[in-house]
Amino acid sequence: MEHTIWKEEYRIGVKKLDDDHISICGLLERLLKAIYDKEGKSAIVAIFSELHAKLNEHFHYEKHYLLDAGYPKKERKEHIDGHLDVLYKLDHGFLNWEKSPESPAHSEELSNLCRWVWIELINADMEVKKKLEELEKQARNDDT
Ligand SMILES: [Fe+2]
Ligand SMILES: [Fe+2]
Repeated sequence: MEHTIWKEEYRIGVKKLDDDHISICGLLERLLKAIYDKEGKSAIVAIFSELHAKLNEHFHYEKHYLLDAGYPKKERKEHIDGHLDVLYKLDHGFLNWEKSPESPAHSEELSNLCRWVWIELINADMEVKKKLEELEKQARNDDT
């Protein structure tokens, strides 16, 4: 499938995190396509469930990765809270869509929510990338 959300510049340089991000983008793209193609609710709900499970798994992994990488506690907590906030807003928005009658305005709202989710997550992870690079540099300096 052609990528419309994922860009190479989003790479963090940690294989599992990058692979997860590519999968998340793939699921968001599938969701956007299903909304655009006006597939039935059950098809959209099925993709959403997959996305939700993938996000949960990814957040769990990323949390432990940051812990192992010696990521500062305060920033780590803020980052993890950000994950939870995105998940909460995604769930809430999706539930509202599910309860609403089908309409172009509701479909657009859901599409915008999908795009918002990715921008929020990747912006925060780009900060993580910077911080991890700093930590690595520090560790190298401490060695010398
Ligand atoms: Fe993250
Ligand atoms: Fe991430």
